[in-house]
Amino acid sequence: MVTPSQPDPSEFAPALRDFTRFTMMYKFAIDEITTKINILREEFIHLHDYNPIEHVNARLKSPESIAAKAHRRDVPMTSTAIRNNIRDIAGVRVTCSFVSDAYRIFDVFTAQSDIEIIDVDDYIAAPKPNGYQSLHATVQVPVFLAAGPELVYVEMQFRTVAMDFWASLEHKIYYKYDRDVPAALLDELKEAADTAARLDQKMQSLHDAVWSNRG
Ligand code: GTP
Ligand code: MG
Repeated sequence: MVTPSQPDPSEFAPALRDFTRFTMMYKFAIDEITTKINILREEFIHLHDYNPIEHVNARLKSPESIAAKAHRRDVPMTSTAIRNNIRDIAGVRVTCSFVSDAYRIFDVFTAQSDIEIIDVDDYIAAPKPNGYQSLHATVQVPVFLAAGPELVYVEMQFRTVAMDFWASLEHKIYYKYDRDVPAALLDELKEAADTAARLDQKMQSLHDAVWSNRG
């Protein structure tokens, strides 16, 4: 009688260790960047009595989403190929009150000597056709592990509260309709994006008026 052979757990140990190291690298990169942004926020609050950042969110792409994206883009399923080609495994989103703050935080953050800008997409200056606005930057940050430094890609998004409100609703609608949103709804979303952009302009001019009068 043939008994099915039991998997030997030690067989999987190296792969599991590699996977843990891979995931940790991105978690550490997120921790470093979140700390940097929080330091900037505190510095502004204490030195300028002003908080330019409403909130900071971070997310790590799930193994399922990484695999799906690698498959979509014909990226081989090796950790080296995935590290080099899937550059949004770690994501950090910085939400600000005003458009000027989104750019200001982007500028001071990316000016830091250990942050390397790889790529910038300014969807505030040039919104996507659906109305999406945000300032995107792919950066590399060094993560210092026991074995030495590793440069890790992180996708950063800088946006206003109004842009964030719009993007989160658009995202929910997109998934609700399984990516096939009725044209009428897309038109309304575009209109809402234009309204959000006008609100941002109005808030910015109010803000500028108050701040330029502070003396
Ligand atoms: P991806 O395959 O999505 O990574 O495309 P890409 O690498 O060309 O990046 P892109 O700049 O288009 O988008 C990166 C991220 O920005 C997405 O994962 C979303 O978080 C956000 N984003 C981009 N476009 C939209 C949009 O139209 N709506 C919403 N809600 N979010 C968007
Ligand atoms: Mg992306």
